[in-house]
Amino acid sequence: MIRVGIMGMGYMGGVHLRNWQAREDAKVVAVCDINPAFGATQGNIETGGDGLNLDGVAVYRSAAEMLAAETLDAVTVALPTHLHKAATIQSLAAGLHVLCEKPMALSVQDCDEMIAAAKTAGKELMIAHCIRFWPEYAWLKSAVESEAFGAVKAADFSRLASAPAWSADSWFANPAKSGGMALDLHIHDLDFIQYLFGAPAAIESEHAALANGQPGHVVSRMDYGAGKVVTATASWMMPPSFGFRMGFRVVFENAAAVLDGDGLMVYPPEGDAYAPERHVGNGYQREIEYFAARVAGPAGKDVITPEQARESVRLTLETMK
Ligand SMILES: NC(=O)c1ccc[n+]([C@@H]2O[C@H](COP(=O)([O-])OP(=O)(O)OC[C@H]3O[C@@H](n4cnc5c(N)ncnc54)[C@H](O)[C@@H]3O)[C@@H](O)[C@H]2O)c1
Repeated sequence: MIRVGIMGMGYMGGVHLRNWQAREDAKVVAVCDINPAFGATQGNIETGGDGLNLDGVAVYRSAAEMLAAETLDAVTVALPTHLHKAATIQSLAAGLHVLCEKPMALSVQDCDEMIAAAKTAGKELMIAHCIRFWPEYAWLKSAVESEAFGAVKAADFSRLASAPAWSADSWFANPAKSGGMALDLHIHDLDFIQYLFGAPAAIESEHAALANGQPGHVVSRMDYGAGKVVTATASWMMPPSFGFRMGFRVVFENAAAVLDGDGLMVYPPEGDAYAPERHVGNGYQREIEYFAARVAGPAGKDVITPEQARESVRLTLETMK
């Protein structure tokens, strides 16, 4: 039984709580949040439930208090981004495995310190890049790897929303805490693109600015050489009535695959479009399943390494120059 603590009980803390509690091999024994009235549960993606079941779960006001009082095996770090590094290093030093929300940290140097701390501790450090585990995206990864439809000629990813408004103290709006729109949102697609195609030779980005002058809408084009066009768009500038939408359009030699409001569809050169078979569940469930398996025993194939999460921070910071 993996004894779990959760740091930060806002939107993502609630998501982690529900998904840990759905597992039979784990028990959430404690959570902590600086805000005694925690429990914001609205975010971009519907995550299957609003309520927090804290029956039998000890509640603390700080990570230090929780770590001092509880015997844990692992923690989820779902704190605002500027706190990821300190909480991760503190937990690793306490001998715990760490599942830390994305983005890994605000700078490459902070990521390096987290990686070094995991090596010293000899514990698992996973950054929760949920899109690598999202069924439609995991399907795309297999389609690219297997070359079932031939090589990719063009791939375009998008992630569109209004600026997050669910955080009580608006930390998302403060780039010193969130890293801004690109590090919060665009990183999902840049991370997934690197998972598919490796590091691009170069990246070029254009922005539209929010009222505070920070990048609010970004279009990035990655250089993968002649014959493959790879682009991604992310926005915090959509009106709230638009909601949140993520998707992709990938043109292979022998088909196109599109994720949009109609779900995931494959468009073959001949015949009708069809919805391909993919995993059930959502990326949050599947990333916790992967982490729990690595905590429990020898690791299988890597889906996300701390070094790759660091590379995604590095590439995303490039888009803000
Ligand atoms: N993977 C995803 O799809 C996804 C989606 C949204 C957010 N995130 C990431 O998850 C992290 C958390 O985002 P969120 O949307 O849950 O934010 P949030 O504001 O809803 O939650 C953060 C929580 O941390 C608490 N907190 C702040 N400082 C604290 C401290 N010092 N000690 C203890 N608790 C403290 C706050 O009171 C709040 O309840 C961020 O890094 C964000 O980028 C990931």
